[in-house]
Amino acid sequence: MKQSLKQENRGLSGFIDLEPTAESFVDTVLAGLARPQKSIPSKFFYDRRGSELFEEICRLDEYYPTRTEIKILTERSGEIAALMGPRTELIEFGSGASEKVRVLLEALDRPLAYIPIDISRDHLRAAAEELAVDYPEVEVIAVCADYSQTMTLPEPRDHSHGKRVGFFPGSTIGNFTPAEAVEFLKNAAKTLGPGGEFLIGVDLKKDPAILHAAYNDKKGVTAAFNLNLLRHINNELQGTFELDAFAHKAFYNEECGRIEMHLESLKDQNVMVAGAQFHFSRGETIHTENSCKYSIEEFQELARRGGFDAMKFWTDENNLFSLHYLKVRQILES
Ligand code: AVI
Repeated sequence: MKQSLKQENRGLSGFIDLEPTAESFVDTVLAGLARPQKSIPSKFFYDRRGSELFEEICRLDEYYPTRTEIKILTERSGEIAALMGPRTELIEFGSGASEKVRVLLEALDRPLAYIPIDISRDHLRAAAEELAVDYPEVEVIAVCADYSQTMTLPEPRDHSHGKRVGFFPGSTIGNFTPAEAVEFLKNAAKTLGPGGEFLIGVDLKKDPAILHAAYNDKKGVTAAFNLNLLRHINNELQGTFELDAFAHKAFYNEECGRIEMHLESLKDQNVMVAGAQFHFSRGETIHTENSCKYSIEEFQELARRGGFDAMKFWTDENNLFSLHYLKVRQILES
């Protein structure tokens, strides 16, 4: 970090609990399994075991997004910091372990505040406390909230701040459909306000063979991550899924420009969940995740529809991943 302010290590400055109401697991699963194409939203992957498996995915040889994004961030951190300017108020949407933001905090000129937003209360508090210890000059105010909704952000103590800049790494935006992504961007523009800027990581369209390998790794970690959803349902919703009666299936849907993950039933079978019975024919699937991939132009157009102007973008030398720097153009109603 440039020109550190002399201050004592003061820990977490604030913890704001907006008491997000998590979408009911039972209602969503029962409704999703009753559809003609059975489906369960990918956010339910992340129980404790699911989060551990996702971290393992991020370290796999085949899963290029994490290391490629960190490489772009690291190589371009000076340029990014110059665009953000001094005394930035950095807001991370879905901050998780707050790892990647460290690259930015190291490069920024006297960052004023870091505001991580996450729905997972305990994980958020632990990560924010750790970061506050490591960056004592930065005011760290954690906000427990559903980051896809609009919210009023806390004001840092020092009001002579630079600008508010959002940070949304990891191509998590790809797990929304394009229409949902536009809604997310509109809400983020509202939260960041006029003059706000936004740094977003977006996975690029590429040779489907590279995508296929990334979601069908040799060690079977992605398969275990997908199947863990059934274990999560068994544990929490009195489910009777036999894990070895389902198989992981991930493929690139060229028409929609996305990887789709499914769980395929290996036989005709009935499964109970929370007292309700569901029939599966052999070969029938539960759609568990979309991971949309965008060209630079496609994402810039999406950002425009969400109320942002594209200012700059960076990619790696193999054009695997992109980082976009956006500026709020207009606050649009959802
Ligand atoms: C979190 N998200 C961006 C990951 C992705 O690539 O869509 C989740 C994931 N699913 C399978 N592997 C990784």
